Amino acid sequence: MSTNYLEQYDAAPEADKFRLVRRWLDTEPLPFFKELREKRPILVTPACTLVTRFDDVREVLQLYKIFTVKPYVPKMDNYLMAHDDDALHTREKTLMQFMLNRDDLPKVRSMVADIAGSILNNANGKIEIVNSFCRMVPATLVQQYFGLTGAKREDLIEWSYWNQYDTFHNHPFDLLPPELSKQIIDRHNETSKKLGDYITMLIAKRFLAVKAEKLTFSTIIRLRDDIVTRMLRTGFAKESDFDIKRLGVNAGGLLIGAIETTAQAVAQILQYLFQHPQWLSAATTAAQKTDNTEFDGIVWEALRFVPISSYLFRLTASDYTIAKGTDYATTVNAGTYVLPVTQSAMFDERAFESPDEFIPQRNWYHYFHFGFGNHECLGRYVGMVMIPEMVRQVLLKKGIEAQGAIDYKSGPFPEAYQLSWVTQ
Ligand code: HEM
Repeated sequence: MSTNYLEQYDAAPEADKFRLVRRWLDTEPLPFFKELREKRPILVTPACTLVTRFDDVREVLQLYKIFTVKPYVPKMDNYLMAHDDDALHTREKTLMQFMLNRDDLPKVRSMVADIAGSILNNANGKIEIVNSFCRMVPATLVQQYFGLTGAKREDLIEWSYWNQYDTFHNHPFDLLPPELSKQIIDRHNETSKKLGDYITMLIAKRFLAVKAEKLTFSTIIRLRDDIVTRMLRTGFAKESDFDIKRLGVNAGGLLIGAIETTAQAVAQILQYLFQHPQWLSAATTAAQKTDNTEFDGIVWEALRFVPISSYLFRLTASDYTIAKGTDYATTVNAGTYVLPVTQSAMFDERAFESPDEFIPQRNWYHYFHFGFGNHECLGRYVGMVMIPEMVRQVLLKKGIEAQGAIDYKSGPFPEAYQLSWVTQ
């Protein structure tokens, strides 16, 4: 492990500087962030600016029109996530939050337990967990709770995968070879087309079904409750600007947000626990309890060490001085990328007591697992029950152990991870 990152960084030629930063971000983030927080909390590199202290990360994520989500714009078909604090974002996010009724959550957790439990029970003591479980459970929930029925789960998984790959891991600061970058865009475009066709069919069919249900006053036709059906059963005044096309876009957003994020978090949390026997043992004991508080606290603390990404990213719309009034106040220029390094913020001793220690039940509001500010995750309450319940179901298996490590196949996402357990 390298120390004195900044010495190496300062000594490197301009053209090599960001390549070094990229390597440290990918291979030794925590010691690198620690040095930055201490010595240069805001690091301006030729590719982007890293912001590493807790308060400054929050500041960046709250100045929506200055640090914008423009990097999402070319990746999304006018979805709310690519809008900064405007009418569409407010309208569609609040509407979708309303549809994802938080009173559903106990039911959602028990659906996840059933889906996850049955996959594991059918696996006979051995599973490649990433594809058969980490991706499959959220894909099944997307069908059963969100109501995106009529497509194969493998397709749902693929559509989410390429969208997430392109949206979160294909920007200039990812330093991908141009051929790979183009390939990802091509796959994303291809799968977006399939997803678009599927959503059109789904909404058309369900629209007719809801209409039939209404005509029969639910006496002959009674549809199952899910989010798509709920949206279609609800009438929106024309002036609320939520027509059937917008409804479809938002249904697609549920699928895209749910699968690869959950899969990565669950695989990485499991691996972290398998690599830390003390916490594996604590989690296994807590998994038996009916009250989930203790178990879930362990899961969220594990995710702090292995988050799905160590940073978020924004494009600066106008010059702005971050951390004004401090001795490291730094002006960031319009047109440049800023990386609020959320994992670093979660190791900042200004907000986290003994940050290098694993301490379950920390203050939830200091975690950045689901983002922060206006773009905080729409699906966070679903994620907050789905992720721990999936991990719990795995740890309920007797003698559960990992066979080796997660294989990332040189990409950003877990692709394979073998687990086994005792069946009799
Ligand atoms: C369960 C289903 C999920 C859905 C439907 C979903 C959907 C979304 C949406 C629509 C946004 C954008 C919100 C906005 O721009 O206002 C978002 C943001 C975010 N989501 Fe989720 N998500 C889900 C699960 C997850 C999971 C499991 C994680 C991580 C473990 C996650 C992490 C995030 C983060 C960090 C952001 C903030 C992105 C930013 O600020 O640029 N999401 N999510």
